[in-house]
Amino acid sequence: MAPTNQAAWIPAKKALPFKVGDAPYTRPGPGQVVVKNKAVAINPFDWVLQYIGPALAGYINYPFIFGTDVAGEVVEIGPDMDRFHVGDRVCGSAAAIAKEVNRPAEGAFQLYTVMRQNMLTPIPPNITDEQACVLGLGLGTAAYGLFHPNYLALDMPKIPAPTKVVGKSGKPRAVIITGGASSVGSNAVQLAVAAGYQVLSTSSPKNFDYVKSLGATHVFDYNSETLAKDLLRALKGHELVGAYTIGNGSVKACTAVMRKHDPNLTRKFIAVAGAIIPPEKLTTFVGKGTYLMAVMGGIVKSAGTRMRTGVDAKFILVDGLADPDSVVSHIYEDFLPQALEQGQFVPAPPPHVVGNGLDKIQDALHLQRKGVSGKKLVVTL
Ligand SMILES: NC(=O)c1ccc[n+]([C@@H]2O[C@H](COP(=O)([O-])OP(=O)(O)OC[C@H]3O[C@@H](n4cnc5c(N)ncnc54)[C@H](OP(=O)(O)O)[C@@H]3O)[C@@H](O)[C@H]2O)c1
Repeated sequence: MAPTNQAAWIPAKKALPFKVGDAPYTRPGPGQVVVKNKAVAINPFDWVLQYIGPALAGYINYPFIFGTDVAGEVVEIGPDMDRFHVGDRVCGSAAAIAKEVNRPAEGAFQLYTVMRQNMLTPIPPNITDEQACVLGLGLGTAAYGLFHPNYLALDMPKIPAPTKVVGKSGKPRAVIITGGASSVGSNAVQLAVAAGYQVLSTSSPKNFDYVKSLGATHVFDYNSETLAKDLLRALKGHELVGAYTIGNGSVKACTAVMRKHDPNLTRKFIAVAGAIIPPEKLTTFVGKGTYLMAVMGGIVKSAGTRMRTGVDAKFILVDGLADPDSVVSHIYEDFLPQALEQGQFVPAPPPHVVGNGLDKIQDALHLQRKGVSGKKLVVTL
């Protein structure tokens, strides 16, 4: 008999709050497993979708089940599955909201989620479910912007991380990753270090040590008036391969750095993950418009910015997230299992458990909207 499933449903577009209720138990197809969720993590995208979902993902039919970040136990495997077995502890990224997937059975905010094997990794015994569930969207967004050929196209991470790698200029290669204490940033810093790049980052001063513990060699205050100058000084003697930006003001600072760092720099490219949306935004008509304009404007504006400054800033639009050949799948299959096992990569930021049960997920979204610092909000199930 199939297990009884329950979900935190979004009943209709822009509906608040989620409604906890029965959900079908969906059996896994080829290349899929069903995971009994033990812990799920919250992303800004979850509440952004709740507020303005139709404008960002108009293809979604409601009622729907959001959520991307999952850790739990495999309870059923699909046909021909040999990578995972019933009883395995796994974590990864649920794919419900990917355009090519678009089905509630693959949302994280329920007791049983259908997961794709190419977006899952085993959890080593020394890592708890609460720690492991933080990877999902943060890891995928970081990997996509750093390694996809349409964005920074950096070398893929290796085990162990290559050392003393030099670029075409013969100098050590460096990348700027702003917002190192954010969820996306914590993943991006570690992935770039594992790929053999020196990482320069930004955060609040209280998070400098945390971001350095992830492998960044220099961390600067993103509010500092001398940020661009400080970055330039730290980059002396290095070949800058590009920037990955999180947080307001980051594109401006990185554009200034790229214009001055090295006149012979051939590729001046910024992969833009996004700005941090102030809590009061998205609750008002003006706020929603501002956010949408920031996203859409970010996409359209990049061509203009390139003409004006010579620096290409491109907003990261993750396409084909569930594609078995994507850079994200390669990270899940070829890098994470061993890197987590050996401690070369740690799930980050550390979890802050908001509570237990599906009815706590809406509370956790509200808390995420107020802002977090170097933490990932988690609900146990
Ligand atoms: N394009 C995509 O597909 C995609 C996907 C996922 C997320 N995103 C976007 O990526 C961004 C990060 O998401 P997240 O989940 O990682 O967010 P998060 O963890 O909630 O971000 C919070 C962190 O942002 C940092 N921060 C705030 N303002 C900053 C600034 N001006 N410069 C640098 N860091 C700053 C804070 O650092 P301190 O605590 O040190 O102050 C804080 O730790 C958001 O804009 C999100 O919408 C985009």
